Order: sequence, then structure tokens, then C-alpha cells
Amino acid sequence: MKVQLTHNGIVTSIKKIKQDYILLSVTIDRRPAFRPGQFMMMQVSDSYDPLLLRPFSILDENDGVYRFLIKIVGRGTRLIADFTCGKSVFLTGPFGNGFPQETGGSALVAAGGVGIASVYAFLQMLHKQGVPYELIYGARTKDELVLLDLLKPHHPLLSTDDGSQGYHGRLTDVLKKKIRPEHTVFACGPMPMLAVVKNITLQQKAACYLSLEARMACGFGVCLGCTIFDTSGNTKRVCKDGPVFEAGEVSFGKQTAKNR
Ligand SMILES: Cc1cc2nc3c(=O)[nH]c(=O)nc-3n(C[C@H](O)[C@H](O)[C@H](O)COP(=O)(O)OP(=O)(O)OC[C@H]3O[C@@H](n4cnc5c(N)ncnc54)[C@H](O)[C@@H]3O)c2cc1C
Ligand code: FES
Repeated sequence: MKVQLTHNGIVTSIKKIKQDYILLSVTIDRRPAFRPGQFMMMQVSDSYDPLLLRPFSILDENDGVYRFLIKIVGRGTRLIADFTCGKSVFLTGPFGNGFPQETGGSALVAAGGVGIASVYAFLQMLHKQGVPYELIYGARTKDELVLLDLLKPHHPLLSTDDGSQGYHGRLTDVLKKKIRPEHTVFACGPMPMLAVVKNITLQQKAACYLSLEARMACGFGVCLGCTIFDTSGNTKRVCKDGPVFEAGEVSFGKQTAKNR
């Protein structure tokens, strides 16, 4: 069966949550199947300016309603913040490999900032599968810890850099305290955080998967706009070979200028 990768969705809800975050619900009648950690490319303007679609992780899906957690960081995301209910939205995807479906052993999930959007569906999957897991969720300040009601069933260990909520310090400090060699770690967040996560898991000899972010143009492997170097010096496309990579594959010292 031919998989349809272009979709016309309708905005069914848009809520501003905390200062720079939006929870956007889009109904897509065809209900494309997705794996936790996959993303869709979203058109942000009817005028094709800006031209490029923007990538967003699928937070979850219920009855054809896809939710996206969006942090406002620039022009495209500001345009999304102005969407209204009933607006039609063009999307492509779902794209990317997503998180492994078989996790093995117990999982430690680490989400930094808006990285929580990428791991949320994965947490739901672990919960459903009965896999033992813990969630560590960190941000700079409590205003950037979002969706705490949704996350309650996952009993998150919270951290903030400024100590305004949860552990006072970096998420990676909490990870260091919690990690055991038998854990498999799954992480999404800013690149500097992921680099530290990689080092911690290497020291503990724990398996680790990282979901990376990169600027993207096509989202499906053609434009090479999202390439990074792996530890063997080969290029990898974050959109098609990732966004989830085994930590051992990712070279943080040798990224392309675009994605640094
Ligand atoms: C696979 C994937 C999944 C993502 N999932 C989410 C998500 O669920 N929620 C969410 O809020 N964001 C997510 N992002 C990041 C999101 O795509 C960007 O924040 C968005 O495209 C920025 O668009 P803009 O026009 O507002 O920003 P721009 O005006 O283009 O840029 C503003 C600032 O954001 C930085 N930036 C732009 N694009 C990216 C990017 N792709 N990665 C890292 N930094 C970027 C720029 O360097 C610049 O500093 C994801 C990115 C990828 C690659
Ligand atoms: S965004 Fe085009 S190849 Fe990845």
C-alpha cells in the first residue's frame, strides 16, 4: 500500500501554555501512523514566506487529532502562534526513525527543555508495554517546565538550572546520580546537554540513544541540509538516518557548521 506523506490538517485547538510554549492540535482525517520520536514538517505560512516547512515531533495522537508542543523561538514558530481554530495546515511526514520499539531492561529517559515533546509518545509506549522506566525532565527555570499535568503518571524527576522547581542544577547531574550500567538511556534536548549525556553513559557503559535536532529543509533525506558527521567521519542525515542515533555514533566535536 502506498504511504501518503502529504496531509491537509485543520487546527482544532491552540493553547498558549506558559510563556513561550504552545500546544497545537491538528486534525488529520487520514490518521497517518507514527512511531514515538518521529516528526512532521509543518507549513507555517499560506504565502510560502518563509518557504521552508518546520519540523516538530508528534506529541501524541487521539482519534486523528495530532498534538504538537511548540516553543516559540523565531519567525516560523511566531507565525504558528497566530494560527486560529479552523485554519487549514499543510504537513508532511511522519518522518525519521523514531525511538527503538524494543527497549530491553529498564529505561532512563532524559528530556531537556522542549525535548520533552520528542520523548512524550515514547513514555506512553513504555508505560503501555510495562517496561520499567524513569523520567528526568529539566529546564533552565520553572517557566520552561511544561505539560506537568500530562506528565504526572510518569512521575518526572524535575530539575531547573536556577533551582525554581525540583533539583537545583543540571538535568545531567540528576542523570549521573540515577544511572546504572543496566539502564538504557534515551535523551532529547539541546546539543550541549546531549554531549554530556553521551559522556555519562559511556563512563557507565550504559546503552544510550539520542534524538538530535538540526535545521531541516525537506525532512525526508533529499536536500542534505541536516547532515552531521558520525564518529567514523561519515555524514548522516538527521531527518532520514535519525533523528534518533546510538550515542556512540554521534560526534559532537565534528558537526557541520549548519548544525552546531
Ligand atoms: C526532528 C526535530 C523535531 C523537533 N521537534 C520540535 C518540537 O516538538 N517542538 C519544538 O518547539 N521544536 C521542535 N524542533 C525545533 C523546531 O523545528 C525549530 O525550533 C523551528 O523550526 C524554528 O523555526 P523558527 O522559524 O521559529 O526559527 P528560526 O527563525 O528559523 O530560528 C530561530 C532560532 O532557532 C534555531 N533553530 C531553528 N531551527 C532549529 C532546529 N531545527 N533545531 C535547532 N535549532 C533551531 C535557530 O538557529 C535560531 O537560533 C524540532 C526539530 C527537529 C529537527
Ligand atoms: S532535511 Fe533534507 S536531507 Fe534532511
